[in-house]
Amino acid sequence: MTEDIFILGIESSCDETAAAVIKNGREVLSNVISSQIDLHTLYGGVVPEIASRKHIEKINQVVDQALEEAGKTLEDITAIAVTYGPGLVGALLVGVSFAKSLAFATNKPLVGVHHIEGHISANYIEHKDLEPPFGCLVVSGGHTHLVAVKDYGEYEILGCTRDDAAGEAFDKVARAIGLGYPGGPKIDKISKEGNPDAIHFPRAKVENSQYDFSFSGLKSAVLNYINSCEMKGEEVNVADVAASFQKAVVDVLVEHGIHGAKEYGFHKFAIAGGVASNSTLRRAFEEECKKQKIEFCCPSPIFCTDNAAMIGVAGYYEYIKGTRSGWDLNAIPNLKLGER
Ligand code: KG4
Ligand code: ZN
Repeated sequence: MTEDIFILGIESSCDETAAAVIKNGREVLSNVISSQIDLHTLYGGVVPEIASRKHIEKINQVVDQALEEAGKTLEDITAIAVTYGPGLVGALLVGVSFAKSLAFATNKPLVGVHHIEGHISANYIEHKDLEPPFGCLVVSGGHTHLVAVKDYGEYEILGCTRDDAAGEAFDKVARAIGLGYPGGPKIDKISKEGNPDAIHFPRAKVENSQYDFSFSGLKSAVLNYINSCEMKGEEVNVADVAASFQKAVVDVLVEHGIHGAKEYGFHKFAIAGGVASNSTLRRAFEEECKKQKIEFCCPSPIFCTDNAAMIGVAGYYEYIKGTRSGWDLNAIPNLKLGER
């Protein structure tokens, strides 16, 4: 019988301090997330300096709790996986330094994980049969990537955003219509009361690229719409604006995703990242994939937004491939997917 592999995953790339224990790559024994959202809400967005300080305060406790909830001690852990990029450099450094110290002190292997690889790998948790190859749309606060997952840890980026990330557009539009931070969940909620066909916002196409995205024009269109209402003395129907904006984003994401899946012949398609917890996006992909006879996967919302379970899963596949990081592992704020 082969020995079980337990990975301790650590994530601190933005405003969540998180730790998790993963058994044999797919079973989540614990998933502890300490969110700083309330703190950053005061400022309308993530303040990097505050994020780093809060990670330092929380990381010990979060890791202890993850081990405890998993019923494991550090001795049981096979390897320590940590996000080392992309993300906020000060925030990343807290997790990386902590993981390095822990690995050094306990003489365990250290595995640096790419944050986006983590988001993609979140799909393996609840879809036990999912294996590469498949297509994946990663939509988060900082990234909008259409990715061909060729094998575990092997990716080809088919398209990405030329300006704002999808989550960033949600956050900026939410702020403009007075919903506050974090915008995505608030737009998702209020859209349920609005008419998605009330206002026609543009579905941006990027010239000479069928898979790239652009959301800054859409964001400007929403701002222009609000300004023109104000100038005419008309009241803005926030729910209608939110629902119409959301539909414009979802239409483009689904169109590009399904087009890519068909062109590249993927029989399976997944979504990942914070925006993948959007209820309209999930439903739209589910329906379109069904029509196209493509198997659709998405993680539960808790595994879409930042968490360490996904880092533990990605760390497991890197670990069994033989990936090991040295004591010189550093935080890389703009790390590209597929680079080490
Ligand atoms: O993956 P994530 O937690 O962090 C990054 O890696 O960026 O994604 C955060 C982003 C934020 O922009 C947030 O507004 C968005 O995901 N988000 C959503 C929803 N929940 C979170 N966007 C749309 N609908 C949601 N339900
Ligand atoms: Zn993320």
